[in-house]
Amino acid sequence: MRAKAELHLHIEGTLEPELVVELARRNGIALPTFDVNAIRARYDFADLQSFLDVYYENMAVLRTDRDFYDLTAAYLRRAEAQGVRHAEIFFDPQAHLSRGVPLDAVFAGLTGAIKDGPISAALILCFLRDQGPDEAERVLRAALPFRDQFIGVGLDSAEVGHPPSLFRRVFDLAAAEGLRRVAHAGEEGGPDYVWEALDILRVERIDHGIRAMEDPELVARLRDERIPLTVCPLSNVRLRAVPSLRDHILPAMLDEGLVVTVNSDDPAYFGGYVEDNYRALRDELGLTEEQLDRIARDSFDASFAYEG
Ligand code: ADE
Ligand code: ZN
Repeated sequence: MRAKAELHLHIEGTLEPELVVELARRNGIALPTFDVNAIRARYDFADLQSFLDVYYENMAVLRTDRDFYDLTAAYLRRAEAQGVRHAEIFFDPQAHLSRGVPLDAVFAGLTGAIKDGPISAALILCFLRDQGPDEAERVLRAALPFRDQFIGVGLDSAEVGHPPSLFRRVFDLAAAEGLRRVAHAGEEGGPDYVWEALDILRVERIDHGIRAMEDPELVARLRDERIPLTVCPLSNVRLRAVPSLRDHILPAMLDEGLVVTVNSDDPAYFGGYVEDNYRALRDELGLTEEQLDRIARDSFDASFAYEG
């Protein structure tokens, strides 16, 4: 199998229904249903927000460092089986702090599993953009005692109405701490969000970025500066950012000479892990083995911490 790095993966988005049920039982948490098929049956999303509602609800079963450890260990095992040699993993600390889960439990579980895991991995702390810039700054300051356990910061959650420009200060603070910077932009938001992420947040990769293709000047900028885009094809279909995989703009992005990587985003929800995304691009979109090789090669070049 093709060796690759995975650069756009939310660890909470790897929470499979089987583990939701197991952790709910272990922690004595009531669920609307303990039937994994019934849980999966809800995974029919109209847009990003309808997914996020289920994503935040399910992650309430994550309470202890052991829960975060088990979640991460399961992802790393699956990733290895899908040819991943290195993963840069997003996590959403605000979604846990708001439920009373302390940061040290989150870090202990994630970092412990990475240390024990079968592949190389690093953590990127994401700010929930719909909670605003003051909360983002608060969580970054709270995480600074754990500074050696994460390599960068990102920006995720509900995009439209929460533009990157609001987060200038917290990204400046992150840069001053020597942290790498990425942001979700151009998933549901327009090219203006991608410009802001580049110009105001000084991000080094764009997560998704598919709507950048609507702006030729932006495409030229991304190409000339070789700014990687972490594209997630199955996610885009399941969240209806594109009507079907056959309509995906990824081939045109390659034709434009952009640095494109392929990733799974929230694989427990979107019907596949990273190799499943590669395979779908070949089988349903007709990408050639050479194109997929180029994407896999670029995924290592686009990584921050791969030391292969
Ligand atoms: N959080 C988890 N997955 C996300 C996505 N695809 N977009 C924005 N925020 C997310
Ligand atoms: Zn994402």
